Amino acid sequence: MSVDPVDLLAKRFVEAIVAAFGAEFADVDPLVRAAQNPQFGDFQSNAAMGLAKRLGRNPREVAAAIVQHARLEDVCETPEIAGPGFINLRLRGDALPRLLEDLEGTLKGREHHTIRRALSWTSGTSQRVVVDLVGVNIAKQMHVGHLRSSIIGDTLCRVLASVGNEVIPQNHLGDWGLQIAMVIASLRRRRVDLDRLDLDHLEEAYRDATLDCKADRPALESARRINAGPHRIAEWEAQVAGAEERLEEAKRTLVRLQQGESGIVAAWEKITAITMQACYEIYDLLDLVVTHEHNRGESFYRERLGPVVDEFVRSGVAKESDGAIVVEIEGDETPLIIRKSDGGFLYATTDLAAIRYRIQELGAQRVIYVVDNRQRDHFRKVFEAIRKIGWDRLPGGGRAELRHVAFGAVCGADGKPLKTRSGENIRLKDLLLEAIDRAGAIVRDKNPDLPDPEQKDVARAVGIGSVKYADLSTHLVKDYIFAWDRMLAFEGNTGAYLQNQYVRIRSIGRKAPDDVRADAAFLIAAVEEKSLALALLRYPGTLASVAETLEPHRLCQYLYDLAGAFSVFYTQCPVLKAKTTALRDARIRLSRLTERILADGLGLLGIRTLERM
Ligand code: ARG
Repeated sequence: MSVDPVDLLAKRFVEAIVAAFGAEFADVDPLVRAAQNPQFGDFQSNAAMGLAKRLGRNPREVAAAIVQHARLEDVCETPEIAGPGFINLRLRGDALPRLLEDLEGTLKGREHHTIRRALSWTSGTSQRVVVDLVGVNIAKQMHVGHLRSSIIGDTLCRVLASVGNEVIPQNHLGDWGLQIAMVIASLRRRRVDLDRLDLDHLEEAYRDATLDCKADRPALESARRINAGPHRIAEWEAQVAGAEERLEEAKRTLVRLQQGESGIVAAWEKITAITMQACYEIYDLLDLVVTHEHNRGESFYRERLGPVVDEFVRSGVAKESDGAIVVEIEGDETPLIIRKSDGGFLYATTDLAAIRYRIQELGAQRVIYVVDNRQRDHFRKVFEAIRKIGWDRLPGGGRAELRHVAFGAVCGADGKPLKTRSGENIRLKDLLLEAIDRAGAIVRDKNPDLPDPEQKDVARAVGIGSVKYADLSTHLVKDYIFAWDRMLAFEGNTGAYLQNQYVRIRSIGRKAPDDVRADAAFLIAAVEEKSLALALLRYPGTLASVAETLEPHRLCQYLYDLAGAFSVFYTQCPVLKAKTTALRDARIRLSRLTERILADGLGLLGIRTLERM
């Protein structure tokens, strides 16, 4: 049962509407809202006016019929009908305390929720969910582009698990194909000692390999057109021929890799290990739930690509077109190519194999892709192809849900995708270390008395928390501007503000005298207490909505509003100096509940809470 009175009342109203007017009204929105004027109560339902139109009846009569059928005694005083047909609702004095106790009860045992031990708090909704996140490419450093996938995906894993799902993260590494063969070929050609290879070498090799294999035909053509002279033309001819030869060499290397030739495979393994090592450092800095167990890179599916294409052809879903194998997508001019005319497989083919694996072998009922919005078309087509062939069918009937959670770019102050001054991609690790550094300077400034090790710890929690919060609090599809000052601010809708609010609330609890009764009855009388109570009771519903919409900013906004409601409460309602001990204890209990929800919510965002900062 929901602990949010708005949800609760809405459900009761729908029941009443159905009882009064019939089952065909089960989808009516009961329009339960906070009362516009607290004088008339806490909530109101504005459903009668719309219903009256549909029924061709007088709205006040309709309101009366709803009220007559509504079972509200346990939550509300007798409702009043006002104006054209508003139904005004006033909560019973004991309703909020009871709901707060229920909420507190559901939080018990959640302190240590982990991704594998999913604790349910909306019963009966448990699903197995695969979340595709991170998706780094081998032989390249993780860059800011991977930041969002990691951060958003991590939060979604945590939130989905917290509402009772079984979550399986999957890191679809780009660890197979021509790019990697190009790097291997380039390293071998340059006789690089693989045992002394590090990520810097690897990045260089990646860049060189890409340049080496890129034939600049337009340059050759324009040199010929303007008749740039025999030397110039010969230079470009050599460039093009060389690049073509190196591309051929890379293709041959790929075949040798695919055939499992030991030297080539060893080089591939080495490259993978070096990249992953760097990747794990980032996981660690970001404190992500994914681990090496969740690696299922493109290479994992390599033996499955042939059979995937065969089945698409056999089932008639795919057909041949100019030597390639394609799947027509309704309403789309270009089909989805699943095998090229030269026999090669594509990124899409691997994704088809991966979806099949996730649904049929991992048992996913929901598969979520946290990948930037430039891949929107790719996923739309791949999902459509899967539906056509029916690999989304679930054993118990019904179909798995396939969702692309698309997100925008991280931009610099100029509004263009974030780069270094010299125009290169910013390394994720450098960015995160800078966040920690900057947070450290702020913390030293604000609290010079913190002992050094604690200062470091706080800097890390605040720095990383700020980067995450800035990312999560914006609407996913929007590009967002990466601005240090704003994201590290201690005021406003930021991670540091919430961490700081937590510290403040926590210190109230610490200052509480020993005779405080933890189970003192909640006393909700003042408006500020009521607003805080209502904000607290919205927490489970907020998590459910994030799990449904996959929009983490809803949780950020919620926590920000909660912290705001607490501030107002704390300035208006004395806690430690309350008039009676009963009131003091009730307010301490309310503070502690706020503290726990703030910690729980920040934890789901992957943000650490601190004792001091
Ligand atoms: N490696 C890919 C890239 O960097 C992202 C992988 C996303 N996941 C997927 N199943 N396609 O673009």
